Amino acid sequence: MFTSQKFSLFGLLTLALAQTVVAAECTPDQGHGAQVFANECGVCHSVSKDMAGMMGPSLAGVVGRKSGSLEGFSYSQAMRSKDVTWQAETISQLITQPQAYVPGTYMPYMGLASADDRQAVVCYLKEQR
Ligand code: HEC
Repeated sequence: MFTSQKFSLFGLLTLALAQTVVAAECTPDQGHGAQVFANECGVCHSVSKDMAGMMGPSLAGVVGRKSGSLEGFSYSQAMRSKDVTWQAETISQLITQPQAYVPGTYMPYMGLASADDRQAVVCYLKEQR
């Protein structure tokens, strides 16, 4: 009797823990997102509004922006006609495998395999207004 109660309490705790891990919320990450951005994206994208000389469009304020819509940037036809709004989910899909998500895109990036890194970089981008 006593042991079985202990077991169910343990079960509840594990369930609560599993849910915390699954929740896709942005938590302070000690600069991990910024580091992923610097390593994986920074060579082509800036997060300041001044995008002079970068190969990719500025990602300042990209969350909530329509795909292919930054004025003055010369997008591929594929990106211009993609018609999505960049949110955590769509950005994550793009950077998993750009050529699969937007066939014909000019973004010459192989993809970010780690779901943790994708989540971290998306959280970082949410802060870049
Ligand atoms: C080697 C250069 C390069 C790298 C690395 C790169 N990108 Fe891109 N990215 C581009 C180019 C070029 C485009 C424009 C694509 C087009 O017009 O088809 C683009 C487009 C995008 C867009 C769409 C923006 C818009 O205005 O519609 C997002 C979002 C994006 N990149 C995010 C990322 C993230 C996040 C990373 C890092 C994980 C990354 N990119 C890595 C070159 C790159």
